[in-house]
Amino acid sequence: NKQITAVKLVLLGEAAVGKSSLVLRFVSNDFQENKEPTIGAAFLTQRCTIGDKTIKYEIWDTAGQERFQSLAPMYYRNAQAALVVYDVTKPKSFIKARHWVNELHEQASKNIIIALCGNKYDIVESEDNDASTENEDDDSRKRKVSVQEGQTLADDEGLLFFETSAKTGFNVNEVFTTIGKHIPEA
Ligand code: GTP
Ligand code: MG
Repeated sequence: NKQITAVKLVLLGEAAVGKSSLVLRFVSNDFQENKEPTIGAAFLTQRCTIGDKTIKYEIWDTAGQERFQSLAPMYYRNAQAALVVYDVTKPKSFIKARHWVNELHEQASKNIIIALCGNKYDIVESEDNDASTENEDDDSRKRKVSVQEGQTLADDEGLLFFETSAKTGFNVNEVFTTIGKHIPEA
């Protein structure tokens, strides 16, 4: 006789940071190298079991392109949780993430649970683990946002923080499971 808690969750972040890819990994355990940009928003659901509680995530995956930005409030209104996503190789996407965190704190539900996700960790993984010169002639494949910058923003703003990879699946389930643990009992 277990209860299922429905949780409205929204993804926000600059275009091409990997919002839809994180959702595809979470919902279908799949990845597409050439995922098409989202138009408007996409809606998906996925259940997540945490101990003896089951959460049904109702996921609004928004479009990051500028022209869709004015639609965002429709999707974060009443959301209980948000994933604010940036790309660890794109500093501009981290600036955008700060903007979304500020907007959520001003406009969204007071008790919204926000997870900050530094995505595309797979690209910088070898750079982090050894001083490998693998990507030395390709600046677009280098880390541009440090773990510390992400962690500091999260600490200052009261966010959960993860570096993730939709490509390898690194930390993707952990994001949703950790959010689930923070959802108050219905
Ligand atoms: P919009 O819908 O336009 O806002 O973009 P989005 O944030 O949904 O990005 P999307 O998931 O469409 O991914 C953009 C591109 O990045 C695609 O080519 C993905 O395959 C790629 N990508 C997404 N996540 C990752 C990742 O973790 N690692 C790598 N290497 N590539 C990724
Ligand atoms: Mg998308």
